[in-house]
Amino acid sequence: MAKIIGGVATTHVPAIGKAIADKKFNDPYWRPFFGGFDYVHYWLAREKPDVAVVFYNDHGLNFFLDKLPTFAVGAASEYRNEDEGWGIPVSRSIAGDPALSWHIINALVADEFDITMCQDMLIDHAVTIPMTLMWPGEKWPVKIVPISINTVQHPLPSMKRCLKLGRSVGRALESYPQDLRVMVVGTGGLSHQLDGKRAGFVNKEFDSLCMDALAGDPDTLTLYSIHDVVEEAGAQGVEFLNWMAMRGALTGRVTEVHRNYHIPISNTAAATVVYENGDGAERRAA
Ligand code: DHB
Ligand code: FE
Repeated sequence: MAKIIGGVATTHVPAIGKAIADKKFNDPYWRPFFGGFDYVHYWLAREKPDVAVVFYNDHGLNFFLDKLPTFAVGAASEYRNEDEGWGIPVSRSIAGDPALSWHIINALVADEFDITMCQDMLIDHAVTIPMTLMWPGEKWPVKIVPISINTVQHPLPSMKRCLKLGRSVGRALESYPQDLRVMVVGTGGLSHQLDGKRAGFVNKEFDSLCMDALAGDPDTLTLYSIHDVVEEAGAQGVEFLNWMAMRGALTGRVTEVHRNYHIPISNTAAATVVYENGDGAERRAA
């Protein structure tokens, strides 16, 4: 059976891609951020996932405002990157796992989630930057199942809905018969606003509150409406919805084993967190 080993949540600011291309790892501006990945690399080398389910938001590359699904699940054997306008190198493609994608799609629809299924799907910096941060080498050792959540055009799904989406994906993973080690990724956030009167807005207190609650008590965060989240975290801080879904997919006893938080990277409060998902035995004892 598939095993959900844990999750990584991280910011996906495009400027990180340029800094990686320019090898600025030890630059004083970048070091506090990149240093937060030393533990992630250690954890991934130890845990050796086979597949990553990636909750992210498309920024107008694959979906635009004319047609924008609330939830979209990739079912391709390969995902191409064609990021436009961010000034970062186009990334190599990432392999998919169509069989696992279809298993998740079937389970979500059976669970009454009306998702969009995508047999052809371009991925943007919200997938490629976290992948490059997690595995900086030449080759990605995992296949992915990308799941896109609309954080761009209102009305957005609620915090509660995204947590439930994640929980449904978690149950689907647990019922997958293949022996796979699965990790879950949530990208984006934390607080940031890219335009308007509050451009540059970040909120350390709210970010801390969200991170403090996420591992042990994510349901308390569902009390925040989307308008509350925009007010507290900024217009693009709603990317935290991806973190909620990631957390929902961790079905065991969840422990935060690593956290790095640094302000700012570009316009964003940058955060990197690693979660472990207690195994079945631990769950039964809990
Ligand atoms: C920035 C942050 C994002 O989440 C994004 O998608 C694009 C840009 C930024 O802070 O520059
Ligand atoms: Fe973003």
